[in-house]
Amino acid sequence: MSALAEIGLGPGVLICDTDFFVRSFLPGLTLKYMPLPDLEHWLPEVLKAIDRMCGSGIFHTDPNAGNVIIDKHAKKIGFIDSEIPARIRTERTLSDEDRRFCHERLLYTLSRDWMNRGLPSSTMKQKILSGAYNYYNSTPCGLLTPQRAVDLLTGKEIQTGIPK
Ligand SMILES: Nc1ncnc2c1ncn2[C@@H]1O[C@H](COP(=O)(O)OP(=O)(O)OP(=O)(O)O)[C@@H](O)[C@H]1O
Ligand SMILES: [Mg+2]
Repeated sequence: MSALAEIGLGPGVLICDTDFFVRSFLPGLTLKYMPLPDLEHWLPEVLKAIDRMCGSGIFHTDPNAGNVIIDKHAKKIGFIDSEIPARIRTERTLSDEDRRFCHERLLYTLSRDWMNRGLPSSTMKQKILSGAYNYYNSTPCGLLTPQRAVDLLTGKEIQTGIPK
């Protein structure tokens, strides 16, 4: 339950009883409501954090944009709403399918949030898309093509489902 906190990417567990638990509060704003100018910097950082989380063998079943809290002042990223994060104990990293799901879920849900917020196309949005394109173009992630990342972010493609 505290796997994410152990790697500095989620709330700790303050109390855990038989029928309830209390997590620590993470200050900040979710990615879902983050102003576009801030996203230009933070989106690549969140993608990196997803890679680190997956690299630690933690599978978050719903890394949607509303489940990522950014503390701009402390420069920290936290993933919430992962009450039963499954740590794969026998492997050091998750399968490519698991990792792809986590990236796609984040990008796809962000596009839905932008649509719901009625954000117009803008130069700022283009910069965010370029940032995502460059991330997948330059990291050894190899799971998504840069173009697929952009298509997910612009709502042209839908994410693949949660792995079995
Ligand atoms: N540890 C935390 N620290 C700070 N804020 C939190 C924390 N956990 C949740 N929140 C706040 O509460 C909101 C809802 O939390 P959460 O994502 O866990 O539930 P949900 O997605 O609304 O519920 P559900 O997944 O049951 O539909 C978050 O968007 C965030 O603003
Ligand atoms: Mg949530």
